[in-house]
Amino acid sequence: MTDLTTLLEVGGPVAALGGGAAYTRAKHPGAYWSAVGLPMSTARLLSSYGSVMEACGLTVAPSRLRVLAVKATTRGEVRPVPPRRGVIRPTTTGLRLRLRLAPGQEPADVAASAERLRHAWGVHAVYVTTVKPGVVDLRLVGYDVLRKVRMPRKAVGGSLQVPVALREDATPFVRDYRVVPHGLTLGATLSGKSMYQRHLVAGLARQSVALVGIDCKRGVELAPFAPRLSALATDPEQAAELLPVLIKEMEDRYDLIKARQRIAPGTPDEEITSDIWGLPEQERPVPVVLFVDEVAELFLVATKKEEERRDEMVTQLIRLAQLGRAAGIYLEVCGQRFGAELGKGATMLRAQLTGRVCHRVNDEGSAKMALGDIAPEAVAAACAIPAERPGLAVAGDTSGGWSRIRTPYLSLADAAETCRASADMVPDLPALKPFRPAVPVQPVESSASVVQPRPVTG
Ligand SMILES: Nc1ncnc2c1ncn2[C@@H]1O[C@H](COP(=O)(O)OP(=O)(O)O)[C@@H](O)[C@H]1O
Ligand SMILES: [Mg+2]
Repeated sequence: MTDLTTLLEVGGPVAALGGGAAYTRAKHPGAYWSAVGLPMSTARLLSSYGSVMEACGLTVAPSRLRVLAVKATTRGEVRPVPPRRGVIRPTTTGLRLRLRLAPGQEPADVAASAERLRHAWGVHAVYVTTVKPGVVDLRLVGYDVLRKVRMPRKAVGGSLQVPVALREDATPFVRDYRVVPHGLTLGATLSGKSMYQRHLVAGLARQSVALVGIDCKRGVELAPFAPRLSALATDPEQAAELLPVLIKEMEDRYDLIKARQRIAPGTPDEEITSDIWGLPEQERPVPVVLFVDEVAELFLVATKKEEERRDEMVTQLIRLAQLGRAAGIYLEVCGQRFGAELGKGATMLRAQLTGRVCHRVNDEGSAKMALGDIAPEAVAAACAIPAERPGLAVAGDTSGGWSRIRTPYLSLADAAETCRASADMVPDLPALKPFRPAVPVQPVESSASVVQPRPVTG
């Protein structure tokens, strides 16, 4: 009997504790990491650092001086030397650690052991980045941060920058229009493309920039952002009228830049400009970001005449992509596929859209369209995205690398609210006035008297 009570007394709380820990780990991995994972992994790292490094082949033979010193002082065994370790810096998602490489080692050696290190220290993943020659940053991630994405609080973008998603190493993925002017987002239906675009619109809404939308799915995705849009086209006919206006705007901006360049001698060099950012602030035209949702809908043709119109629009988009950057006009295109089937010049347009994000795709061909020119492993990673994780994508880096990213969830209502709240930020662009979308009337608070009762008469 006493055995049973002891078992109940001890076993009960232990089981409750274990169950609670498992629940926290599943539901609140961040909290679990801070409370349990971090101390455990730190202890493991501190206690096993030398032996793990040795097992991973990351140690070097000790110098002769060291051998002498060890023999003289301890008479113990002379162990191989692991890379010198910096202080362990805990973060909310993992921990970071700097290593000074031993002579003869390169960062790739450490990166090759990342999988072994992750198992040895019981973390979700280990990433290696080079800080400077001879020093690498080891970023240990405690749990799968892409399962339920929460952006780091520090992730706030500057001008024309939007922290749009989280990378799997828990750093924010920033869409920076000044660095990568044009972007292409590919993915099957329901893969999360519109969510990605929604984040960009909401992020840019609070900045001084004109937002223009082409959404040929009758505006279902972009129309809710109407209060903040300077122009919106919801069918190919409207788009065919809007694009020449944007081209004209771009040419006007080039004229402005040219006029500035023909300036009096004696003007300081730094004032001579080749894009709008070199112009003095009061003369600088406001940047424009053109969103195209479902590009295939825009290029859909049924008749010969429509085909002509399509080819013209492709040419106009190519011109915008080629020359837009200097005029501060940026493209953000998304679609399910982007191949030669979209018409003459489509592949040329794709080549101009350098920022690539590939969501889940139905076939390898689509992934190749998005990432084929970046890396074959990126294509394979994009093909492996599961359907139950919408928003997960593979993004190409400017450096030629790639990373897995996922957008946080943002409801359409919240994004629309952001746009409504920043409606006063819509810049004054006279050329786009005719395309300004009608702002839907705010829903009336009390809907009781909206419908007037009408007497039914015979
Ligand atoms: N990052 C995400 N986290 C959670 N749900 C998402 C995420 N991205 C997209 N979704 C959901 O997936 C569905 C499809 O997303 P959507 O952006 O409309 O896809 P697409 O435009 O590619 O067809 C939507 O219901 C959306 O709420
Ligand atoms: Mg969509």
